[in-house]
Order: sequence, then structure tokens, then C-alpha cells
Amino acid sequence: MDSSAISAPRKRVLSLIQPTSVPTIGNYIGALRNWAAMADDYDCFYGVADLHALTIRPDPPALRRQSTEMFAMLLALGLRRGNNVVFVQSHVPEHCQLNWILTCYTQFGEAARMTQFKDKSASHADNVNLGLFSYPTLMAADILIYQADYVPIGADQKQHLELSRDIAERFNGIYGPTFTAPEPYIGKIGSRVMSLQDPTKKMSKSDPNPKGAISILDSPDQIVKKCKSAVTDSEASVHYAEGKDGVNNLMTIFSACTGQTFERIERDFAGKGYGDFKLALAEAVIEELRPFQEEYRRLMADPASLRQAAAEGAEAAARAARRTTAKAMKKVGLWMAERG
Ligand code: TYM
Repeated sequence: MDSSAISAPRKRVLSLIQPTSVPTIGNYIGALRNWAAMADDYDCFYGVADLHALTIRPDPPALRRQSTEMFAMLLALGLRRGNNVVFVQSHVPEHCQLNWILTCYTQFGEAARMTQFKDKSASHADNVNLGLFSYPTLMAADILIYQADYVPIGADQKQHLELSRDIAERFNGIYGPTFTAPEPYIGKIGSRVMSLQDPTKKMSKSDPNPKGAISILDSPDQIVKKCKSAVTDSEASVHYAEGKDGVNNLMTIFSACTGQTFERIERDFAGKGYGDFKLALAEAVIEELRPFQEEYRRLMADPASLRQAAAEGAEAAARAARRTTAKAMKKVGLWMAERG
């Protein structure tokens, strides 16, 4: 047996998702599906980013309910296997502690350049709070606290990931090796799934047009309706090409759900209209989500075991988080209290 295979430590993966609404198949294809694919080969930390959700002042009872539901969804995706940890961000207070330290190693100009900050401060002009501004340093804390090697994300989070990497390298440059510099893992297919109603915009949980996004909890009926009403073009030919944003997007979703290449899809639907393709697409999405939806319903019917799983996740995540936080605190010169 190859002894290097035994001694090499397993690489770490981390990613979080906000609980503010039910994930779309954009979140699923761009991120969650990759989380599941990585769950066997790495030591993974996956979680619910409830602290990030506070930046848009959610309704408190809704946030509590949605956090529980999102946690159940992560379990229903089968992410808690092997050594993997599934947890809720606010259950591990060290994220906030490290966030403060990292905030002091991030330049104002760097945070001000973040396109998501610019977009969100325009769309929430009445509440441009400091949390919205320092959102990426909390994200850096989430990642660096677990010494993550890889972070599976959609393309929209790439800039935040690059900032996390810059912060890690800056800190390591001043104090010596402290944090692993993380790399994004962005899938080749579906890193930016677009709205079904406006394929020039990313599919978003907060799309005001409910037909623009398929949620991963939508019923088969809803999925069929949304696929049927998806915007395409007047060419009536299923092929991937520049200028066919709507069809390209549907092909991306179809390919992600069935594993089929674009060439195969083009061959299978040659001579057929968009109606046939949209029905096949709906069927593929329904089948992809079916096992997940069944498991989710089973878990939601057992709140005691959900609470137990959240407590176990928090404990395991905190063990790893405490080690990194203590290391960073010592490096910057904080006088460490000795507590029993
Ligand atoms: P969030 O909750 O907006 O989205 C969760 C994940 O889904 C991806 N995604 C998409 N991928 C493809 N097509 C789309 N239309 C699409 N929409 C969303 C996102 O890129 C993301 O990977 N800030 C993060 C949450 C977070 C986080 C972290 C992520 C907090 N701390 C640390 C990674 C590491 C966010 O708001 O994602």
C-alpha cells in the first residue's frame, strides 16, 4: 500500500448558505450539488449562514424557522456523513471573534470594492449597515477558522473568496503561517444559473417574479408550470449558442440534472420544439429533487432529532474553530485568559 496516502492529511472543505429563503435550483446546481459530491473525499464543514442573514434585518420568527428548515435541508442532502460537520454559524461564537480580528486586517478600500456590497447597498438603500459592508470579513472568518483548502461556491461569491485569500496571505505574511489560503471550487456547469424569466439575471432566492426561480422544495406541478413558462427565443431549435441565453440556461439545468453533455441534448432534441424540451427538463428536475424532498419531509417531522443534530454539529465545529481562534489571538498579542 502507498504509505504517503495514509500519512497525507485529508483536505478540508467549507461552505455556508444563507437561510433567508428556500434555495433555488441555482443554489443547488451552483453549490449544494458540489457540496454533496465533495462530502466523501474531504473533511467537510457545511453550515447555515444565519449571521449573514442579519444584514437585511429579517423578521425574527421567520429567521428562526428558516434556519431550522435550512439545517434540515443540508441533512436531507446527505451532507452529514463520515467526518463531516453540519452546523449553524451562530452556534459557534468564535466566528464573530475571529471576524473582529480579520476586520482589523482588511482595508476599507478592499471592502468598498466588493460588487455585492455595491449591489446590496443599492437594493437596500434604506439600511446600508456596517454588517453589509463587513459581510466579506465574516465570510473570511467562516472559511479561515476551519483552515479550509477548498470552498465550493457559485460564481457570484468568487470575489469574496479572493478577498478571504488576500486576508489570509496578509496575516500569514505578518505573523507567520496561521491560516490556510483557501481556493474556490466552482463547477464547470451551472456556476451561474440564470432566471427563467430574464436569462440575463442570475436566478435568485429574492426574485420578485416567482416564475423566475425554481425552489428545491417546489412540487412537481409547480416545476412543470415554471419550466413551461421559461423564456426562450423564436428559433425553436434546442442548441447552445451565443444570443440564446434562455435556451442555454435550460440546457445547463438539464445537463446538471441528467449528467448529459450539450452535444447529446442537441442530438436527442433535434427536430423537436421547445415544448418537448421543457417537459423533459421539468421531469429531470423533479427526479433529481425527489429523494431530497422525501428525506426533508421525514426530518422535519422529527424536530427533537434535528435539535440533537444541531447541538452535535455546533460542538464538533467549535472544537476546530477554537483551535484557530486561539492561534490567531496569540499571534496578534491578545493576553489569553486561563479559564477552567
Ligand atoms: P447564498 O446563500 O446567496 O448562496 C449559496 C450558494 O449558492 C450559490 N448561488 C448560485 N450558484 C449558481 N447560480 C446561481 N444563480 C446562484 N445563486 C447562488 C452561491 O454562490 C453560494 O455558493 N455569502 C454566501 C454565504 C456564505 C459563505 C460563507 C459561502 C457565508 N459564509 C463562507 C462560502 C464560504 C451567500 O450569501 O451565499
